[in-house]
Amino acid sequence: MKSQIFGALGLLASFAVAAPAPSELPRLVLYYQTTHDAQGRPISMLPLITEKNIALTHLIICSFHINKGGVIHLNDYPPHFPLFKTAWEEIQLMKKAGVKVMGMVGGAAAGSFNSETLDGNATTFEYYYGQLRDSIIEYGLEGMDLDVEQPMSQDGITRLVRRLRADFGPDFIITLAPVSTALASGGNLSGFNYKTLEITDGSDIDFYNAQFYNGWGDMSSIYNFDRIISNGWDPKKILAGQVTTPANGYGFVSPSRLNATIVELRAKYGEIGGIMGWEYFNSKPGDTSQPWLWAQVMTAILRPNLVPQLTITRSTAEKLMRAWHQSVKPGSEMSVALAPPNVDYMAMINA
Ligand SMILES: *[C@@H]1O[C@H](CO)[C@@H](O)[C@H](O)[C@H]1NC(C)=O
Ligand SMILES: *[C@@H]1O[C@H](CO)[C@@H](O)[C@H](O)[C@H]1NC(C)=O
Ligand SMILES: *[C@@H]1O[C@H](CO)[C@@H](O)[C@H](O)[C@H]1NC(C)=O
Repeated sequence: MKSQIFGALGLLASFAVAAPAPSELPRLVLYYQTTHDAQGRPISMLPLITEKNIALTHLIICSFHINKGGVIHLNDYPPHFPLFKTAWEEIQLMKKAGVKVMGMVGGAAAGSFNSETLDGNATTFEYYYGQLRDSIIEYGLEGMDLDVEQPMSQDGITRLVRRLRADFGPDFIITLAPVSTALASGGNLSGFNYKTLEITDGSDIDFYNAQFYNGWGDMSSIYNFDRIISNGWDPKKILAGQVTTPANGYGFVSPSRLNATIVELRAKYGEIGGIMGWEYFNSKPGDTSQPWLWAQVMTAILRPNLVPQLTITRSTAEKLMRAWHQSVKPGSEMSVALAPPNVDYMAMINA
């Protein structure tokens, strides 16, 4: 079994020099959805802060689903299940390293935003919104991404955005994840009008993780991004959402092609919102064995030398080891082996 040993020397070197407070723009955002590998082992997100030359700004833990008649789930299980202990422990370190950790509700599985859940009448909304609010509080999420991939009413999305802002205050990060064409009067999955939402509630929406893939526009040229800006959007609020590997959807654009598009857009508009990637665990070019390499490549394109700082003590490393063992999927091959974590938490200690 190949261990994921993190470069401890690189780690120390990057902390020896105090970095200036990194600018948020242009943002580098990554979704973390797949939480376990095929052997049932939790997938560590920490390489995104311990590997050198990565300047991730936001990590989005997903996908939260609202289930009619049931409880909120993170993918297939309630978020308090032990198999997510590693994720909830590790996000504490991500936050310490300056990465904003958000959640995402919705996605491809329908059900979270219909008239019997978050788009329901006042009573229904209160009930299901309450589950989402409690999860945000319980796990200390710093923001919520609304990935509405089923028809939702204009009033419904407005109600949800306003409620999150009212409950969590001005620093809470609220984002949406439309298909890119929905911002340019083209095809959409959400039903409501994004332009109208931006006019009524744009001051409460931090940015848009626009999906430039799966046939909803692409980043092989500036064409689709340009159409959005011509439609009246602020380029700083629009992120170029990308699949991180052709395995995650149609419309993968090579890093060199993407770089050319980004360079052209930044020259034209001064700055853009950034790049978003869907999703972490199998990103190119490292695939499942080194998924953080995608973030390195994107950092080189977008925000070189803006690497966050991190301190890991022995007690933190020991806590992470315990969480790892509790997070192994019950009944999987690894749950009986009592194997040591394939993440070398002890090698990360630097304080
Ligand atoms: C609200 O909607 C639910 C279905 O989600 C329904 O059972 C209930 O009767 C409705 N309440 C009111 C006051 O309309
Ligand atoms: C969204 O797509 C649906 C289905 O194609 C369409 O009927 C609707 O007009 C679109 N809405 C907006 C705001 O573009
Ligand atoms: C992106 O393209 C610019 C212009 O050609 C080039 O100077 C830069 O090195 C490229 N960056 C990366 C990371 O490929």
